Amino acid sequence: MEPLLQIPSLPIPLLVALLITPLCALLLKNWLSHTSPPRPASEQPPRKLKWYRSGLPIIGPAIEFQKAPNVLLLKARRELGDVFGLNLLAKRFVFVTGPEAHRWFFNGDDGTSSCELAFEKAVQELTSHLFGNIMFVTPGWPERARKVTVTGLGTLQRLTYYTGIIQDEVDRSLAAWAQLGAVDLFRECSRLAMTLQIRCLLGDDVSEGFPELKDLYYDFEHLAALPEVAQFGWFPSATARRFARIRKRMFAILETVVNERFDRPDEHKGRRDYAQFVVENCPDYRQIVPAHLLSLMFAGHVNTAGTMGWNIAHIASDEALRRAVCAKVRSEGDPFARGADVSSMTSAGIAIAANRAELPLVDKCGRETNRLYGILILVRAVLKDTAFDGIALPKGTTVAFSPYVCHRDPLVYTDVNKFDPKRYSKAGLEELNTNRHYVPFGAGRHACQGQRFVTIILRIIWTTLFRDFEPLIENLALPEPEYYGALGTPLPKAPVKLRLRKRTEESS
Ligand code: HEM
Repeated sequence: MEPLLQIPSLPIPLLVALLITPLCALLLKNWLSHTSPPRPASEQPPRKLKWYRSGLPIIGPAIEFQKAPNVLLLKARRELGDVFGLNLLAKRFVFVTGPEAHRWFFNGDDGTSSCELAFEKAVQELTSHLFGNIMFVTPGWPERARKVTVTGLGTLQRLTYYTGIIQDEVDRSLAAWAQLGAVDLFRECSRLAMTLQIRCLLGDDVSEGFPELKDLYYDFEHLAALPEVAQFGWFPSATARRFARIRKRMFAILETVVNERFDRPDEHKGRRDYAQFVVENCPDYRQIVPAHLLSLMFAGHVNTAGTMGWNIAHIASDEALRRAVCAKVRSEGDPFARGADVSSMTSAGIAIAANRAELPLVDKCGRETNRLYGILILVRAVLKDTAFDGIALPKGTTVAFSPYVCHRDPLVYTDVNKFDPKRYSKAGLEELNTNRHYVPFGAGRHACQGQRFVTIILRIIWTTLFRDFEPLIENLALPEPEYYGALGTPLPKAPVKLRLRKRTEESS
C-alpha cells in the first residue's frame, strides 16, 4: 500500500545528526535542571525535591523505568517518601502520594478555582498526538463534554438501553469462546470490550457498516503506546508513519458517521446509541464530535478489557473462589440472574458502582482486581507556581499520582500482593474511601464518567461466564502484569489461556 506520508530519504550522516542533536539538547537541559534549585513559591525556604536516582547518572531512572515501572515507583516511594521527582528524559514528573496528596490532586480543576492543578492541560500534553488539540482549544467544549458524557453514559434510561446490547453481545461472544477451545483470554476480552464500545457508543449501523473499525482501533491503541509514537512521534519512523495512516483512517470513518448523522437527521432519529445522543445535544460542536468519540473509546477500552480479564483469571484459577462465585451467581437471588429484566439489572449495576449495599462476592473480586491492577500514573499540570508539602512546584511541572502505589501501601493493606476479595465489606470499603486509600476510578471533578457503564459491562460478563459455563485456566500460574507501555489497566506479560465449557442440565 502507498504510504500516506511521503518521507524523502535522507543521507545517513544527516539522519544521525538529526537523531543525536535533540538527544544532546535533552541531556544538557536535564543536567542543568538537576543542578539548579527549584524556584521558591513563597518567602519560606522550600524543602528540596528529592529526585529518584539509580544506575547511570541522568539516564539510570529512564532505563529502570523501561524494565519495571511499577517496581520502580514502589521503590522510589519507599526510599524517598511521599513526594519525589522522577526524570524519564522525555518527561519529568513530581509524584505525590498519601491522603493529603489525594485531596490536593483530585481537587484539581483547570485553574478556575483556588487549585493550581489542571487536568485538561495535562491530558492535552499527553494525548494531542492521538486526538489533536481541537477538544482543548474550543471554548466551552470541556464543560459541554462533561455534561454530555455524564448524562449520555450515566442515566438509568440510557444505561438500560446499553444493558440490553451488552447482554446480547456477551451471550454471543461467550458461546463463540466455548467453540474455539483454548482462547487467549485478554485478546478476547479486548475484542469483546471493543465490540461493546462500538455498538453502545457508535451504534449498530457503525458496527455493521465498518467491520474494519475493531482491528483499526486495536492497532491504533497498540501503536499509541510504543515509544516511537508516544515519545518520538516527530521522527518519521515506519511505526510512526503506520500510526499516522491508521489514525487518519479512523478519523475518516468517524467523520463519515458523524456527518451522516448531522446531515440526515430524519434517517437517524430514534437511534439510541451515545453518538446520536451527542449529535442531538451538541449541534454547535460538529467538528469536535469525532475526536470526542475516539477519546472516549480510548478512555474506556483498555481499562475495561484488563479488569475483565484479570478478574476472570483470578477467580477461575482459584478452585475454592471459583466454586463460591459460581454458587452465588447461580443462585436465584442474584440481581443479574438469567431472565432478570434489563432495567432492574441496570439499577443493580448503578447500586454496585456506588457501593450502596454489601457487595456480592463477584463484585468484591472486581474491587480487588481494581486494586491490584490499578492504573500506574495519573497526571495534572501546574498552572501557576505553587508548593506541596513545602516543596516548590513551578508553573509547568507535571504532578503525578499513582493509584497503583496508593493501592499497595503496606500500612493500609495487609498482604498487599494477595488477591483477597474479603477486604471489601461495606464498612471496610467506606473506610478506605473516606481515608482516601482506594482510588481505581479517580475522584472529584475528573472521576471516571464511565464507571456505571463499565460496572454493568463487567458484571454481565462475569455473571454470564460463571453461571452458564465451566471455566478452566490452562496456565499453571498467572503471569505478571506488564506496566511498561500500559495505557491504563495493564495486560499480562504472557497470554492467559482459558477454556470454556457450556454447562448442561447434567453438569449443573
Ligand atoms: C474498569 C474500567 C475503568 C477504569 C479503571 C477507569 C479509570 C478511570 C480513572 C482512574 C479516571 C480518572 C483519571 C484522572 O483523574 O486523571 C478516569 C476518567 C475517565 N474515564 Fe474511566 N475508567 C474505566 C472505564 C471507563 C469507560 C468504559 C469509560 C467510557 C466509555 C470511561 C470514561 C472516562 C472519562 C471520560 C474520564 C475523564 C473524566 C473527565 O474528563 O473528567 N472510563 N477513568
